[in-house]
Amino acid sequence: MQPRTPVTRVLVIGAGAMGSQIALTAALAGYPTTVQDVSECQLDDAAAQLRDRTDKMVASGKLAAEQAGQAHALLDFSTDLDAVAPAADFVIEAATERLDIKEAIFARLGRLAPPHAILATNSSTIGSSAVAGASGRPGQVCNLHFFNPVLVMECVEVVRHAGTSQETVDTALAFARSLGKAPVLINREVPGFVANRLMGAVQKEALALLAGGVASMEDIDATAKTALRHPMGPFELMDLVGLDVVDYIAQATHAATGDPADAPDASVAALVRAGKLGRKSGAGWYSY
Ligand code: 3HC
Repeated sequence: MQPRTPVTRVLVIGAGAMGSQIALTAALAGYPTTVQDVSECQLDDAAAQLRDRTDKMVASGKLAAEQAGQAHALLDFSTDLDAVAPAADFVIEAATERLDIKEAIFARLGRLAPPHAILATNSSTIGSSAVAGASGRPGQVCNLHFFNPVLVMECVEVVRHAGTSQETVDTALAFARSLGKAPVLINREVPGFVANRLMGAVQKEALALLAGGVASMEDIDATAKTALRHPMGPFELMDLVGLDVVDYIAQATHAATGDPADAPDASVAALVRAGKLGRKSGAGWYSY
């Protein structure tokens, strides 16, 4: 079935690493795109990082300077949700991973966005059913889960909740494809969806092998890369994702399943307590 709703303007809420790259991805695909964040400073940082990113893409010949210019011309930044939401056809919320914050955003979007607009969350831990009611339009709500680094990773998980309409699913899949992504449909909300469950299983095994003294972290990472052709080893990947995020996903999964096997890993939690969050803080499993 072809989606009936053409997407003409995209709104991304949250100017962190994920939100800002989602917005640039949309702008590169030709969508006028607004990035909204409560922090002016965060928006300034995001704008500068996106400029840097496209400069690198142009320098390496991956992007024509003209295309970069066109994408930046399609991007704008705002702190004022009331002003920007009424123009959006497709909203992707990538704000802080807290249910109270997301509920408040979806309630505002329900009042502010045009009646036909789809409201998606990029959350990896909060299924859209948790915010659908607040929006007042549950059929038009789903997860649209991107992967880090968004500009590079092809996968987008489109996760429907029990009340997501087929039209919303079709529009979300078509929209993700129009961004040059390879979306997959997740038919029901399970903690971690599919990708983070697969990633978590490898991480759990890697942590157990390290704790058991079976091999060093470097050799476990090397094995994943040279024996399995993973682009990164599990410890390198934890550092890329952020150890705080890895710990948070484990906490959320454990809270949802109650399964002791899903309990957060003590060595990851200890690194987080020590301020070692991975690449973004300069150290995690490795030093950067
Ligand atoms: N942002 C944007 N682009 C980036 C980037 C970043 N942070 N880091 C690297 N890239 C780009 C580079 O510019 C380069 O682009 P080019 O080929 O067009 O020039 C390309 O990625 C390759 O980069 P490098 O040559 O520097 O390095 P690698 O070849 O080692 O690739 C990688 C880096 C793409 C990160 C690769 O190692 C990889 O795919 N790793 C696995 C990442 C992964 O599994 N992500 C999923 C995490 S789970 C998640 O996000 C879910 C969430 O809920 C936790």
